[in-house]
Amino acid sequence: MDTPCKRILVVEDDPGLRFTLTDHLEEAEFSVVGAGDGLEAVRLLAAETFDIVVTDIRLPGKDGLEVLKEAKAKTPAPSVITITGYGSVESAVAAMKLGAEDYLTKPFSMEEFMMLLNKVLRVRALEEENRDLKKLIASQSRFEELVGKSKAMQEVFGLVSLVSDTDATVLVLGESGTGKELIAKALHRRGKRKDGPFVALNCAAIPDTLFEAELFGFEKGAFTGALRRTEGKIEQAHGGTLFLDEIAEMPLPAQAKLLRVLQERVITRIGGSENVPVDIRVVTATNKDDLKAMVAEGNFREDLFYRLNVFAVRLPPLRERLEDVPLLVDHFIEKLGGNRRVSESSLPLLMNYDFPGNVRELWNIVERASILCREGMIEPKHLPPEVSGVRVAPFEEIPDAGKILPLKEAVRRFELDHIQRALRAAGGSRTGASELLGIGRKALWERLKD
Ligand SMILES: Nc1ncnc2c1ncn2[C@@H]1O[C@H](COP(=O)(O)OP(=O)(O)OP(=O)(O)O)[C@@H](O)[C@H]1O
Ligand SMILES: [Mg+2]
Repeated sequence: MDTPCKRILVVEDDPGLRFTLTDHLEEAEFSVVGAGDGLEAVRLLAAETFDIVVTDIRLPGKDGLEVLKEAKAKTPAPSVITITGYGSVESAVAAMKLGAEDYLTKPFSMEEFMMLLNKVLRVRALEEENRDLKKLIASQSRFEELVGKSKAMQEVFGLVSLVSDTDATVLVLGESGTGKELIAKALHRRGKRKDGPFVALNCAAIPDTLFEAELFGFEKGAFTGALRRTEGKIEQAHGGTLFLDEIAEMPLPAQAKLLRVLQERVITRIGGSENVPVDIRVVTATNKDDLKAMVAEGNFREDLFYRLNVFAVRLPPLRERLEDVPLLVDHFIEKLGGNRRVSESSLPLLMNYDFPGNVRELWNIVERASILCREGMIEPKHLPPEVSGVRVAPFEEIPDAGKILPLKEAVRRFELDHIQRALRAAGGSRTGASELLGIGRKALWERLKD
């Protein structure tokens, strides 16, 4: 035996047999704890960690199946060998169904027992090795908070580590939900300014009229309501990184002022005259795949575009790197902290889906499925219909679907249903949904309000 320090819990109410087992195991240099009934066993399982549990099925207090369930609920779970009375195959089968590794039928010899134990230990060692290997692979496909083993993502990680050391302005491009914000954070964390602030501003979330105040701050009395001097985001980011998300939504006047900041590295607060020097690294992001087209249309300043686009990092949509799906699923399950697993029939469905909402959508799918699945196994029925392939019939779900509704009402219901689907696909992001629907964010907002 090459693993002499394994801990074993022996649960057996017959003192003679318990003693014989314990004695043999100690002789074989295992660390052994004995329990005479199920309640004591459960208490020990809660308090200590064991590699192996050997338990009789018929026990006073709680029976061996209860002990088994308790043992298997632990992470990492011990391997379990059950002992059944002569002729009670049913309980052995029940135990195997509940996850027991193997069973022995009374009466048995100590040779039989030790042989079975060694077999279980060998399997356990293999499983551990497999787990370590998986961890190693996962660690190589991990980059800050991002995971991805696809060539495309590995290239992104390479680019980001190259450019993070420099102070170069980075433009992160990619569809909604592809991880642009995580890339911005990774750039910050890996860079020289990691001890400075990381300040994010979502340009789509700020009304045009408040934009400049938000970016540059203001002096006391600069406008009605300016009760005291307030720092803008740029000043807050001094010494660190300023992340301007959805940069395409920045109004033109603010663009002109931002350009000045990038060129002269000073700001002037609204209502002030002082030039305040700022030392910031700027990272911007957009899900418009053609910022250049916006330049051509006159909606984005060309000079600013070139300033921001010093270094571009393009995040591929998830449908172009479906090989990352299993890894992402594992990563999300781990983040959710449960003991969930994905069934063999669910994974291919996920890998066949095109994820219009990208990684954010996958995250939502996994989160929802892990709530729905009670037994810890994510099955196709826990996946949304667009993934599992079960057709949705929205109108059939409407109570008075059989009635002929006035056209306006029918259209309204369809629209609502369709918008909800788009929101789900975009992982709840309104910007993402409006993009999928091909309408403006404001138009979407108004429809939702209705
Ligand atoms: N490679 C990845 N590994 C792990 N999690 C990821 C990865 N990419 C994205 N995520 C997760 O998916 C979600 C969306 O990511 P993020 O917010 O960075 O996307 P985004 O590109 O900024 O989207 P949007 O354009 O809608 O703002 C987040 O919960 C993020 O943690
Ligand atoms: Mg984002």
